[in-house]
Amino acid sequence: MEHIISVDQLTKRYKDLTAVDHISFQVRPGEIFGILGPNGAGKTTTLEMMEGLKVITEGDAVINGISVKQHPRQVKHIIGVQLQSSSFYDLMNLKELLEFFGSLYGRKVDGMALLTKVELADKWKSRAKELSGGQRQRLSIAVALVNDPLVIFLDEPTTGLDPQARRHLWALVRDIQKAGTTLILTTHYMEEAEVLCDRIAIMDSAKIIAQDTPTGLLKLIEQKATIKFQVKNHLDIAPLKQLAAATDVNRMKDTITISTSHVQDTLKGLIEYDLTHPVHFTDLQVHEVNLEDVFLNLTGKTLRD
Ligand SMILES: Nc1ncnc2c1ncn2[C@@H]1O[C@H](COP(=O)(O)OP(=O)(O)O)[C@@H](O)[C@H]1O
Ligand SMILES: [Mg+2]
Repeated sequence: MEHIISVDQLTKRYKDLTAVDHISFQVRPGEIFGILGPNGAGKTTTLEMMEGLKVITEGDAVINGISVKQHPRQVKHIIGVQLQSSSFYDLMNLKELLEFFGSLYGRKVDGMALLTKVELADKWKSRAKELSGGQRQRLSIAVALVNDPLVIFLDEPTTGLDPQARRHLWALVRDIQKAGTTLILTTHYMEEAEVLCDRIAIMDSAKIIAQDTPTGLLKLIEQKATIKFQVKNHLDIAPLKQLAAATDVNRMKDTITISTSHVQDTLKGLIEYDLTHPVHFTDLQVHEVNLEDVFLNLTGKTLRD
């Protein structure tokens, strides 16, 4: 099977607001597919329609041959959904909780085995409310795994986690992928999308504005890097625009930023220029473009609001 998920013209309208506007994408089996976008872009609404939790206004999502629009209940058997941690039932310990969720699917679940998978085996006697933020997110992933799903949906799984807990969760997501499961996740962290996802759809204002591999998305913009440095003296920036491969030059107070499509060529030119017209630059930094720059380039605004 080439695609396990096929989303076609998926749309959600609330009265006068279109939360998701005719989006289409496909996911291959075993992929980690990311939906990257700022708050309010329509990521959660997209996921909830695909999960059969929200009524689809227009279009459809087909998961493993099942149309979500026609069979929203049937789809629930083959997908795993990460529940919001706040709703966990605190009367049971973690092992009992997972076995309880399994029973909702008519399955006999080995709670300890699942807890081991998400590295919470030593916490099996705890209640959900006693866990740290990162542990709770790992528990919610264990819950998503109880029915041994083909596809797992994770909605902003690392929002609010510290960097260490975030990396821990990335490792878990990769383990799940290695076991053959397809993952769809949303995030507003470009770094997360870049390091974790095989392919990414960038979403903004209800629409997908670009989709590709992380490398493919970075190729969308001509600029490959920015070169930044400080100058103390007055410096005419006009000649810097003539440097090899420079695509743009800006000055903000004492900071000069040169955008370039080829770092080495521009740097070489800058040093040669400095030999004849001393620039006296300090704090030279080279910043490779990332998805944040791609987003800025496509939308004119930053990912973080
Ligand atoms: N139940 C609802 N009724 C009306 N508008 C909603 C509802 N749920 C979400 N929205 C609106 O839909 C848009 C997309 O929301 P959402 O999918 O939650 O975005 P994201 O997850 O990317 O932050 C937002 O403008 C939000 O306010
Ligand atoms: Mg959301």
